Amino acid sequence: MDHRTEKLMAFLDASVSVYHAAAYLTGILQDAGYTRLSEGEAWNLTAGGKYYLTRGGTAVLAFRVPETTPKGFLMTASHSDRPTFKVKENGELTGKYTRLATEKYGGMLMAPWLDRPLSVAGRVLVETEDGVQSRLVDIDRDLMMIPNVAIHMNRQANEGYKWNPAVDTLPLLGGADATGKLQALLEEEAGGKILGHDLYLYIRQKATVWGIDEEYISSAALDDLQCAWGCTQGFLKAEDGNSIPMLCVFDSEEVGSASVQGAASKLLESTLSRICAGLGLDEQVMLSNSFMISADNAHAVHPNHPEFADANNAPVVNGGVVLKFNASQRYCTDGVSAAIFRKVCQKADVKVQTYCNRADIPGGSTLGNISLSHVSVPTADIGLPQLAMHSCYETAGVRDAIDLENAIAAYYAGSLEVDGDDYRFV
Ligand code: CO
Repeated sequence: MDHRTEKLMAFLDASVSVYHAAAYLTGILQDAGYTRLSEGEAWNLTAGGKYYLTRGGTAVLAFRVPETTPKGFLMTASHSDRPTFKVKENGELTGKYTRLATEKYGGMLMAPWLDRPLSVAGRVLVETEDGVQSRLVDIDRDLMMIPNVAIHMNRQANEGYKWNPAVDTLPLLGGADATGKLQALLEEEAGGKILGHDLYLYIRQKATVWGIDEEYISSAALDDLQCAWGCTQGFLKAEDGNSIPMLCVFDSEEVGSASVQGAASKLLESTLSRICAGLGLDEQVMLSNSFMISADNAHAVHPNHPEFADANNAPVVNGGVVLKFNASQRYCTDGVSAAIFRKVCQKADVKVQTYCNRADIPGGSTLGNISLSHVSVPTADIGLPQLAMHSCYETAGVRDAIDLENAIAAYYAGSLEVDGDDYRFV
């Protein structure tokens, strides 16, 4: 197996929650010599410096200051969260069995969550002698299951079934005497009394590579950890261009991005302002010479259901990176940003496919147009083609993931020249 695929799989397996995904990425940045910045302290930025910051434990921003005066920012945005179930407050349901009370986080396919070993991971706030501390927790064992109702009792199961998240998807944790045991387990792992939590279910199945030529990869959260990974790898590998390369991984995309660590926050805007102020750069001039790639996975044409795809813009898995278009600007790619991204991919020897919704099927939304409302720069919406989006176990292409790393490395190493409304990328 290609070592790049192995590294992607290690990241996917370690990312049992949005918090663990962000921690894995910051670990990589730390190992690569990036200095952690705190939003609550003054920044002392120097030429040649490499920096990162986090917000909320789930959003990660990283950038490098070139030795020469930068012309603008070259940015990518992806997201660290995935559709899942969140554990509610007072999360135990008692009776003949003990179940966990959960609610939906994001718009998931619900049926795939049933009859699979599950566990719980996330962040807890623990009371310590030094005050309240945030700690990651992961109960690393097969802990829960959402059992299906037998076909004999639910004869409609194969004829279309309406799933009720208040009833059908509550996981079974133990018998009647299991009350309080999960709380005790979590407090033992966290090392103290828990005062607050953000805990999510995750499936226990690891990432795998499969197919007759081992061309497919399946895992939880390929949307959008596959893009977050490709952008991070491209960012770290890229040679210096004429701009400040900037990696953004936001949280909360699956619930509309409206959180302090989401793309609808002022996180990116204020970070760019602080970088410009710290380096004595004219922010408006910098922004006028900047570009954004919004990288979030795209729908590949389904092998059994090609009818859902647009006739001429139906990406296939392992056919290359996808450029997404939408006239209503849910994807912000336009002629300019499409041309620039195609140029990037030409340089990287990466194939580009295009995606449009069928004109009679409304599609999803993503990060680009939300980020634009704060940082208004030309944006290309791209992604990797995948199947079963928002299932708890998704499928994508081994080759495409490597293509994205190469395309993003070429992007960050490039030079953007803006002359009025004309753009050149070399
Ligand atoms: Co996504």
